[in-house]
Amino acid sequence: MAPVWLHRYAVLLACCTLFLVVAGALVTSHEAGLSVPDWPLSYGKLMPEMEGGIFYEHGHRMIATTVGFLTIILAVWLWRAEPRPWLKKLGWAALGAVIFQGLLGGMTVIFMLPKPVSVSHACLAQLFFSTIVAISWFTSAAWRRGGTLVEDQGAPGLRSLAVAASGSLFLQLALGAATRHKAFGVTPHVLGAVLATGMVLWLIVRILLRHGNHQGLVRPALALLAITFSQVFLGVAAYMSRLATADAPQPMPVMIGFTVVHVAVGALTLATSVIVAIQVFRFVQPEPAVSGARVPVAS
Ligand code: HEM
Ligand code: HEM
Repeated sequence: MAPVWLHRYAVLLACCTLFLVVAGALVTSHEAGLSVPDWPLSYGKLMPEMEGGIFYEHGHRMIATTVGFLTIILAVWLWRAEPRPWLKKLGWAALGAVIFQGLLGGMTVIFMLPKPVSVSHACLAQLFFSTIVAISWFTSAAWRRGGTLVEDQGAPGLRSLAVAASGSLFLQLALGAATRHKAFGVTPHVLGAVLATGMVLWLIVRILLRHGNHQGLVRPALALLAITFSQVFLGVAAYMSRLATADAPQPMPVMIGFTVVHVAVGALTLATSVIVAIQVFRFVQPEPAVSGARVPVAS
């Protein structure tokens, strides 16, 4: 089958995974994690009555199962149709991650939401989403078209900056997960926002100043800029809505809305930073590049 269908399928799986992240965040924000006490069945059934918190918890499990099956198909499809060995391996890695994620999800229920497990489940969800987005990118027509190589200028190198930006964003969302699951307060996450936003800005300004004509670098960098700013705004909104509804007897819609969107846009922020890093590693050469040289097609 044509590679375009593999790419479309990977994009579909990325969309389903984002939907799954939203569904998971709804479970946490509704405090519905223990509304189904057993696992892998729900109240001993495949399909319990979908009422109250069960709607969110069992709904999340159903979407997770669908994403799991879709990931099996993606891994097998890559294994059969994809010529690049490293991309086949990435497909198997994604499958391993979703299986482990399902086990972590089960453990959150069986052991009644232990904080380290809930935080790990939240973090791995974000890594899994980024992996599927990266696979979508590696199978795209834009990737096959390639582009011109450019020489890195300045220290620290752009590759190091790209890794530092993605790394600090991952640290930031791990701190966010720790806040959300009450492992500790919000202060480290707010300080982390300064670090992560600073690293992202440093990376983007360097790309725009030194490689402003390279569309393969500029476009994802501008997308990362827009998403990161939205995420900071949503973070403040999530924090204020938590404060404003702290005395409410049950989770309020305004808090649920802002916190869930903050989790989902967090996943988009990390994934976009990963795409920027991939582009930097592909096009920016640490040593002098031959002027006008292009990356080999489909490498
Ligand atoms: C397989 C792919 C899965 C993904 C990508 C995923 C993703 C997520 C995400 C993003 C959250 C929200 C975390 C947060 O807001 O901090 C969440 C919460 C949750 N997930 Fe999953 N999940 C998956 C599978 C499962 C499975 C199979 C179960 C089985 C029980 C499960 C049970 C839960 C529970 C109980 C919560 C709420 C945890 C809490 O409030 O502490 N998940 N999930
Ligand atoms: C680049 C900036 C930021 C990123 C990438 C980010 C990311 C995240 C993520 C991914 C989560 C949820 C983790 C999970 O459980 O899955 C989270 C939670 C949270 N973030 Fe941020 N965040 C950022 C900035 C901020 C800022 C500036 C604030 C403002 C105070 C903030 C406040 C919060 C709060 C209060 C929570 C917990 C929400 C809850 O209680 O349900 N964030 N953050």
